[in-house]
Amino acid sequence: MTTPNVTGPTTSPRTPVSATAALGSGTASPPSDGLIGLADGVWMARAPVGFLGLRLTSSMVVFRLAGGDLLVFSPVALTPERRAAVEAQGRVAHLYAPNLFHHLWIGDWATAFPGARLHAPAGLSRKHPGLRVDRLHGADAAPEPGFAGVIDELPIEGFRLRETALLHRPSGTLAVADLVCNVGRPTHGWTATYARAMGFYDRIALSRVIRWTGFDDKKAARRSLKGILDRPFDRVIVGHGEPVLAGGRDALAGAYGWLLGR
Ligand SMILES: [Fe+2]
Repeated sequence: MTTPNVTGPTTSPRTPVSATAALGSGTASPPSDGLIGLADGVWMARAPVGFLGLRLTSSMVVFRLAGGDLLVFSPVALTPERRAAVEAQGRVAHLYAPNLFHHLWIGDWATAFPGARLHAPAGLSRKHPGLRVDRLHGADAAPEPGFAGVIDELPIEGFRLRETALLHRPSGTLAVADLVCNVGRPTHGWTATYARAMGFYDRIALSRVIRWTGFDDKKAARRSLKGILDRPFDRVIVGHGEPVLAGGRDALAGAYGWLLGR
């Protein structure tokens, strides 16, 4: 994919800009173990992920907090190179499992960084026995003092995946896991077929499976989405696919037009 990603219907004429164009890194490129700097105090890393025979990538995000400590959101496989790249930026003080599905490697990170505070959604301990969980995130959670002034936690109520998105205030960057994806035009046949069938081929969208089965309280979810869209951000780092470097807020609104009634 060599052109900026174009979304499906949105409420704005703005065209979101994916990292494919801005960074020159297509989805066909093998993910490196390094970090990609997206803004001051914001980095991401990607790693292959296999699910239902699909060939996708999973993204993790590293945010720098006040005082220089780091928050690692949705960590991917912990390789020596990746660990060194993260440690070069600061002390890993927080590890964040954003939802009930993005936790496969966080246990390795928790072992490697025993002093880091681990944040997870309620229910993850049942899926991941033995995982050290220091704090549950979600609508009922008290604010995390370590995030003050830099990170806003934005839980999506009514979403079965129990996802919390994070807003990095200084850069206007939103990090999500499965709330929306941006996989572009996969070249792998089955992945392309599945993406088309699920409505997220070459567009910033959520899978139809998630749309149809992932919400147990649409009214609450609508309230949460509106709350997110009221925030000032333009960049969205998605859990699967290319980050949206500009126009991300409008792209997210477009992906959830069915829920927001637009
Ligand atoms: Fe995911």
